[in-house]
Amino acid sequence: MNFNEKLKHLQDLINQGLDNLLPKNTEKPAHLHDAMRYSMNAGGKRIRPILVFAAHEIFPSDLDPLPAAIAVECIHTYSLIHDDLPAMDNSALRRGMPSCHIEYDEATAILAGDAFQPLAFELLSNSYSNIPEVSIDLIKILSSNAGSRKLVGGQMQDLLSEGQEPNENELSYIHSNKTAAMIRASLEMGLKLGKEGFNEKKLEKISQVGHSLGLAFQAIDDLLDITQTSSRLGKDADHDSHNGKITWISLKGEAEARKLAIKHSEDALNFLKFVGGDSVFLSELIHFMLIRDF
Ligand code: IPE
Ligand code: IPE
Ligand code: MG
Ligand code: MG
Ligand code: MG
Repeated sequence: MNFNEKLKHLQDLINQGLDNLLPKNTEKPAHLHDAMRYSMNAGGKRIRPILVFAAHEIFPSDLDPLPAAIAVECIHTYSLIHDDLPAMDNSALRRGMPSCHIEYDEATAILAGDAFQPLAFELLSNSYSNIPEVSIDLIKILSSNAGSRKLVGGQMQDLLSEGQEPNENELSYIHSNKTAAMIRASLEMGLKLGKEGFNEKKLEKISQVGHSLGLAFQAIDDLLDITQTSSRLGKDADHDSHNGKITWISLKGEAEARKLAIKHSEDALNFLKFVGGDSVFLSELIHFMLIRDF
């Protein structure tokens, strides 16, 4: 399989897993389950679950990365549903479809996001219950990165900084937390499920890969906001300046933002050399995440 075929294969595997593991939309309350499936199935690149697979592949084991991959996508999708709410970024378009609060209503979107969070941890505790120490470690990684010191904290500061003078420290805090934390968690969880999952040194290195990759990813996201159309992105383009967001573009301009994205990607690839194992697919993925146009 070449890289594109493998990407497609993993996306299909993840989408099938999501279909199997999400509550059916015939189950009560059908309205809520329908909204969860709507936002999940609208599309999405599935980058974070693919990162779980890519990191697992470095030192492959018999453990199945799929439930862990899906748990990460549940947290990510909840964060997008809430990110689009009128009280946050007020975005009407997501994954090429009307955002959850537009298609349903605000209360349903809040609750659909809420419901994805415990579902992620239920999946981790049920799916790896025969290896409790791995299960606990995965729950630790995901919960610590999703909370107020990471993802939610980054989202809070992103909103608090709206309309403020752009400031490098604040911007680094926002990107490290709202975005890089989940990208790091995905790689750490994948490695944890592999043969070297006990190896603290390798876990630390993969965490550095994830941090740099996450910073590159958000720099690209901010660039795409100004360079791409809404229809290509499947979400509202040119929305950040409209919302008064601080970004590398507002701080240093487009050319510097692009240089930074490249630098963070190179850092990620350099850290990856210290992990060892078979990292061909993850290296290709890091490259793909840099040159993507959606
Ligand atoms: C968007 O993430 C939110 C950010 C952290 C920049 P993605 O670009 O991965 O969104 P989907 O999952 O493909 O829709
Ligand atoms: C959001 O960043 C990151 C999340 C944790 C959801 P953005 O607000 O830039 O994400 P998009 O551009 O709406 O996808
Ligand atoms: Mg946002
Ligand atoms: Mg947003
Ligand atoms: Mg954005």
